[in-house]
Amino acid sequence: MNPQAITADTIRFILNGKEVSFAVRPDTTALDLIRNHAHLVGTKEGCAEGDCGACTVLVRRGDGPRQAANACIMTAAQLDGVELTTVEGLKHNGVMTPLQDAMASNGSSQCGFCTPGIVMSLTGLLEASAEPEEEAIHDALAGNLCRCTGYRPIVEAAKAAAKTGVRSPEPADLPQWHSEISFDGSVLHQPAALDDLTALRAQYPDATILAGGTDLGVARADYHSDWDRIISTRRVKELRAMEETAEAWTFGAAVTWEEILQTVRSEYPSLATLIRRFGSTQIRAMGTVGGNIGTASPIGDGPPALIALGASITLASQANGARTLPLEDFFLDYRKTELRPDEVIVSVTVPRPKGGEEFRVYKLSKRYDQDISTVCAAFWIAMEGSHVSACRIAYGGMAAIPKRAKTMENKLLGRELDSDSVADAVHSLHDDFSPLSDWRGSAAYRMQTAKALLERFARDLKGEAVEVMAL
Ligand SMILES: Cc1cc2nc3c(=O)[nH]c(=O)nc-3n(C[C@H](O)[C@H](O)[C@H](O)COP(=O)(O)OP(=O)(O)OC[C@H]3O[C@@H](n4cnc5c(N)ncnc54)[C@H](O)[C@@H]3O)c2cc1C
Ligand code: FES
Ligand code: FES
Repeated sequence: MNPQAITADTIRFILNGKEVSFAVRPDTTALDLIRNHAHLVGTKEGCAEGDCGACTVLVRRGDGPRQAANACIMTAAQLDGVELTTVEGLKHNGVMTPLQDAMASNGSSQCGFCTPGIVMSLTGLLEASAEPEEEAIHDALAGNLCRCTGYRPIVEAAKAAAKTGVRSPEPADLPQWHSEISFDGSVLHQPAALDDLTALRAQYPDATILAGGTDLGVARADYHSDWDRIISTRRVKELRAMEETAEAWTFGAAVTWEEILQTVRSEYPSLATLIRRFGSTQIRAMGTVGGNIGTASPIGDGPPALIALGASITLASQANGARTLPLEDFFLDYRKTELRPDEVIVSVTVPRPKGGEEFRVYKLSKRYDQDISTVCAAFWIAMEGSHVSACRIAYGGMAAIPKRAKTMENKLLGRELDSDSVADAVHSLHDDFSPLSDWRGSAAYRMQTAKALLERFARDLKGEAVEVMAL
């Protein structure tokens, strides 16, 4: 659908089946809009940082299913032209859904504060998959904290509801969206094409480039910052594109982690396991690959994996057109990147496996689900006969940027991957990294686990590692 090329002063969307419009600043949080402007208070605020799931709502942004998302870190800007369902919109003709019934009859709620969010997350799951495995139910709940009930009765309710069949309402006709919305000093631009995006970027280099908002939303809540000018990437067709050739996938910068997970799952199962641990269902539905790279966190999970896979990144500006560089060269220093003030990230190209290669990525975090890495280690090797002919090893959490362990790589090249070469490589890690201590882990812990992960990789390839817990 093309935008209405006029400036509007309201955000228009479908709310619980009805078209609504609100005159609010585009940088208002969706949670504020829902609770304080639409007066629907079933959606709760717990952490305000995307961690607890109390604010979970369902969002449909196109033809796809309704997806769970965190209203606390979403902005009104992201609601324009979408379908939003809050817990008040689940009942059909005044009757609770089978899931709500099952939650009530299974004793799945005590104080009830988390319950609307849990119902929304599980509704998203049951609509996408009629008979989910137990593991999928746990996945769907990874972003929802319940401090009193315990999860067993909640999981039982989900299973019981799945047996009765879940009604997925017909998608509503989405309202026309606007290329520009301006209210009370905050302006939202929604370009539809890359040329328009780069033109806006050149004109407003200080504007906030907004993708899924899962990093920006947290920063905004932490620092109480306002965004007076937002340029959204989510309607830019080049940034939403996914291309596939025999050699590689190219993911537009605004492609979400959930979409990438579905694409890479069969060819890179280890990458799929990492993405499955990326935040929660809510975060993966909104968070994009471009945002993960753009935020340039030293502990982001995407970059080490993508660097080890040999990914490249394409940037573009109005003045100089497009340029492509290896992803590892994008990161310069702590939160400093190659991105120039007038540039945007267009896409990331990831080579597909050619055969004769091995790839594994391991994430160490304090909690298995919904946590950022302390150390993330990604290993890619190609073998010729029994010898390592090429290799890329990248770590997150070990330096100010996600970075390759080049000395370690050189210790393995041309050799068998045996205990001698691995021991040499492990000892050389001090030449590549001097990690910092922080509350996630001391420098010594990081160094020791980073070494152990290479040993783990070598043992995994030989089928020796005991799978205590999927790393
Ligand atoms: C609860 C929670 C859990 C999380 N868990 C993880 C995790 O497990 N692993 C992990 O790595 N991260 C995690 N994150 C961080 C975040 O979800 C990811 O970094 C995500 O990929 C960011 O994407 P986004 O689209 O939401 O980015 P946004 O927040 O929209 O943007 C992030 C930055 O990138 C810039 N940007 C976005 N797109 C472009 C573009 N096309 N061109 C130029 N700049 C651009 C923005 O201006 C901004 O500076 C978590 C976040 C939360 C809130
Ligand atoms: S309020 Fe906790 S995730 Fe939104
Ligand atoms: S029922 Fe109290 S937090 Fe879940």
